[in-house]
Amino acid sequence: MQNAYISGVGGYVPPKVVTNDDLAKDYGIDTTHEWIHQRTGIEERRYAEPGVGSADMGYEAAKLALTQAKLSIRDMDMIIFATLSPEHHFPGSAVFMQRKFMELFEGPDFDKNGARYVPCLDIRNQCSGFVYGLQIGASMVKAGTAKHVLLVGGETHSAALDFTTRGRTVTSLFGDGAGAAVISGTDDPKRGIRSFALGADGRHAEALWMRVFDIRKRPFISTPDGKDNNGSIPPDIMWPQMEGKIVFRHAVEKMCMCLMQVCFEQGLSHEDIDLFVFHQANMRINQYVAQQLAIPESKLIHNIHKYGNTTAATIPLLLAEAVETGRLKPGMKIAMVAFGAGFTWGASIADW
Ligand code: ACO
Repeated sequence: MQNAYISGVGGYVPPKVVTNDDLAKDYGIDTTHEWIHQRTGIEERRYAEPGVGSADMGYEAAKLALTQAKLSIRDMDMIIFATLSPEHHFPGSAVFMQRKFMELFEGPDFDKNGARYVPCLDIRNQCSGFVYGLQIGASMVKAGTAKHVLLVGGETHSAALDFTTRGRTVTSLFGDGAGAAVISGTDDPKRGIRSFALGADGRHAEALWMRVFDIRKRPFISTPDGKDNNGSIPPDIMWPQMEGKIVFRHAVEKMCMCLMQVCFEQGLSHEDIDLFVFHQANMRINQYVAQQLAIPESKLIHNIHKYGNTTAATIPLLLAEAVETGRLKPGMKIAMVAFGAGFTWGASIADW
């Protein structure tokens, strides 16, 4: 059976830089650079301008990934889009991104111009969305149901954060951006995505969530007077809520657990891994995980100081940067790991 490997990666972040000090100065949040930096390692993040969504940023990242893979959107047999910040309730971001690619073929001979109706799939797995999507895409390629899969993680957090002191714990963590990877088949035994260890624990679904609506209720969006009118949505329903200490503890525990599991399955020790690509939620979480597993700092890469937590985009953004800077080269063995809302988590080993 053919193996699957990552044939191209790309990353995109919007140009607007918002520093920790800007959150206090420009947004009026009672916070300081020292507080945020000490607890999270974050110095700044990027925010998309109004009018720009996850599909738009995903499109920019996807173009770069396709170029690196020397492939076109026409070669893709599936688009998988991982996001917790889609443009709308439905349809998902994948079709909005695909439409941007379709526009390249617009004209009277649309069907003859080489456009393909590439199928689109959205997944909602928050911070572990990229690792979950990688397993879906790699399985499709290995099974022979797809030759190439375009996997994108894209997030527009800045549109849906509570920019008041009430929301400062969550708001200071997140940033916007997108990353993409092309998953292709290979007969080269030295390359390939080797294995996965995924997990979830729905008992903690409310430890990090953004409710906005409850489809079981009538009306499905809560209003202060409980009527189906134009009243405002209460802040605890409108904005993301997090039990930070619980998230922190579970993140460390589950990231260690699935990393050990995936290494065990491959008969590897951490010394066999050349590069660890950790989800960028909090520098302290990653330092704890590295400490617990005795992973030296020299084998870790980070960009949380520049971008904050971009959720489904963190791992492909890191991969794209690592390829660009020459840190990640063919022949290296990498371990990717993520943990996020749900709770959901996952790790994967790949020979680059
Ligand atoms: N600036 C200043 N003060 C703040 C800020 C801020 N940005 N945020 C919170 N505070 C205040 C709180 O209001 C509180 O004040 P009080 O004592 O007067 O009530 C005080 O600081 C302590 O707040 P805690 O929430 O208890 O702070 P904690 O030490 O738990 O740190 C943090 C918060 C950094 C968010 C931590 O819990 C954490 O990192 N958790 C992990 C969460 C995470 O990484 N989530 C990302 C998404 S999930 C994922 O991707 C893994």
